[in-house]
Amino acid sequence: MAEQAFVRHERLGEVHVLRLANPPVNTLRHALRQELVAALDDAAAAGAKAVVLIGEGRMFSAGAEMTEFGGLRLEPTLTQVIDALDAFPGLTVAAIHGHALGGGLELALGCRARVAAPSAQVGLPEVKRGILPGAGGTQRLPRLIGAEPALALIATGDSVPAPRAKELGIIDAIIEGDLAEGAVAFARAALAAGREYARVRDRVAAGELAAFDAAAAAVAKRARGMEAPPATAEAVRAALTEPFEHGLATERRLFERLVRSEQSQALRHAFFAEREAQKVAGLAGIEPRPVARAAVVGAGTMGGGIAMSFAAAGIPVTVVETTAEALARGLARVESNWRRSVKSGRMTDEDVSRLLGLIRGTTDLAEVRDADVIIEAVFEDMEVKQGVFRELDRLAKPGAVLATNTSYLDVDAIAGATSRPGDVLGMHFFSPANVMRLLEIVRGKATTAAALATAVAVGRRIAKVPVVVGNCFGFVGNRMSFQRGRQGELMLQEGALPWEVDRVMTGFGLAMGPFAVADLAGLDIGGMVRKAFGIPFPIADAMVAAGRLGQKTGRGWYRYADGSRTPEPDPETERMILEISASLGRTRRTIPPEEIVDRMTLSLVNEGAKILEEGIAARASDIDVIFVNGYGWPAWRGGPMWHADRIGLAKVRDRLAELAALTGDDGLKPAPLIERLAASGGSFAKPG
Ligand code: NAI
Repeated sequence: MAEQAFVRHERLGEVHVLRLANPPVNTLRHALRQELVAALDDAAAAGAKAVVLIGEGRMFSAGAEMTEFGGLRLEPTLTQVIDALDAFPGLTVAAIHGHALGGGLELALGCRARVAAPSAQVGLPEVKRGILPGAGGTQRLPRLIGAEPALALIATGDSVPAPRAKELGIIDAIIEGDLAEGAVAFARAALAAGREYARVRDRVAAGELAAFDAAAAAVAKRARGMEAPPATAEAVRAALTEPFEHGLATERRLFERLVRSEQSQALRHAFFAEREAQKVAGLAGIEPRPVARAAVVGAGTMGGGIAMSFAAAGIPVTVVETTAEALARGLARVESNWRRSVKSGRMTDEDVSRLLGLIRGTTDLAEVRDADVIIEAVFEDMEVKQGVFRELDRLAKPGAVLATNTSYLDVDAIAGATSRPGDVLGMHFFSPANVMRLLEIVRGKATTAAALATAVAVGRRIAKVPVVVGNCFGFVGNRMSFQRGRQGELMLQEGALPWEVDRVMTGFGLAMGPFAVADLAGLDIGGMVRKAFGIPFPIADAMVAAGRLGQKTGRGWYRYADGSRTPEPDPETERMILEISASLGRTRRTIPPEEIVDRMTLSLVNEGAKILEEGIAARASDIDVIFVNGYGWPAWRGGPMWHADRIGLAKVRDRLAELAALTGDDGLKPAPLIERLAASGGSFAKPG
């Protein structure tokens, strides 16, 4: 037999074990598919009564190789591999550890039985890339577990842990101890008992059409403009109404449509952009320093969430506050956040105790002395922060990374308060810090490669998406958002109302409207920034002056009924806007929805172009990663820079110029980089 590189064939009497060996995650590349079909033929020819499919290394299989997207069609396709499993004259068992995702789970669904390690996870995440499972997943999963439960999984793309997968019926048995041995024993026992496992394709999908259609309608509603989730519903419905082969054809037709869609291209861009962001200039070959303990200074809104992220990653963390009361308040908030996760079933009481055990609270700053990374999250005030850094300089161990979570302040000025500016940088988390994945890592002018590499590595360890950016007002995300906020203010002055802008922008796909977001964060935050930098926004400033700070005061741009988080348009806001607008001598006009979208998005793009030109962001796709992961930009629109490239930069330039002329706002004049790229036919992705 030819040397097989990607499938290892082990014969244990009547049971053969086929090991997928394409490290690290066993993507189903073409050569592996070829070898798997050959190995199944060999096993059948050798008279095997059962085959066990198992993955080597970290997991069963992460599915298709995304860079080989076209290559999936090379024969044998995954569908043909699964046909070969269906044709195998005996029992087929998938033995799953780590993850079985996408094509990986479809492969397992092509087996007659599935067993899993207790810690395994399975899922069909294709919808998150704007497509759907294209190798029978939408037809087999409903036949295995029922149409509605299958839809719930396929339309969200969420994975489920093995115990839940067993309850659902995706997995036949959970195997403690050695998985391969357990799976072989499972197969032998089934053979000995003459237990039959029907092919999944031959089973009948349970479900009632009316109930299914109601669930499908809910999926379409939640999709908010995304095409893939309703398409998954259409495919799963076929499992209920059509014979298997017809259902497969329906799935294939929908897959072909989605894979070519703008949305799936944008989602794939968002995926690859995140990978690309991990490549940081100047860090090749630089070893991060070891991090065994972290410290967070300040246990307010951000400090608590940051400490939670470290603990969740198993890194012990010291939390420092000024007073015992502030410390107790901060730690109580941390604990209550975790208790909420216990209530919702995502954590156990033991988890909470273990995590709390990783947090050490103190009011003595000297206790940072054993920390390898220290993150300052005190008030947004230069003097206060410099004071903290002067102390950290005195107390921290040599080589500790000293990071500030500042939103807008100059990282170099903060570093200047220390005698070791090379170890100082920004680690800018997003609220809520325990949830949001984005982490802007701000490289100061003196920051060393080793300190930067350490911050990036620790960012990844705490499950964030670190993006390295340069030092300037607001860094990348807040600097760009500030320009969008400015357009929001100007549009209120010119004729719009907050809820009109929000409605248009959620229609565009933002998770929340910008004014509703401001109410959530607190209007005083922006107010303080504008005050510090001397940039008045007459309407927004008046809201702050009137004590309308957002949800926390029950009134902001919107009003909120007692204890409610539901924004309601407020006539008082409207009155204030009209009054200030008049006092500024504005003649109000109706601002059309297209103008609202363009001003709220192209203002970001224009500032993004300046940021690129200045080298504050290394590449346009880094900016997209920042907006998708930190600012609610819909991933299916790729990110603001991707969005601009899709429009075409010549059109973007013309529209910006038109808007600048219409509004008299020089801020909307196209940035030099846009002018240049538009003239040369380039794009942000390919400057040409
Ligand atoms: P916060 O006011 O909720 O918390 C600040 C905490 O720092 C308070 O508990 C205070 O007692 C403590 N503190 C003040 N001086 C201290 C000192 N010398 N030593 C120890 N603790 C001290 O503020 P928040 O919102 O947590 O912001 C903290 C930092 O994070 C600011 O720089 C802010 O700009 C930044 N940030 C805030 C975001 C947000 O959405 N709230 C998002 C990203 C960054």
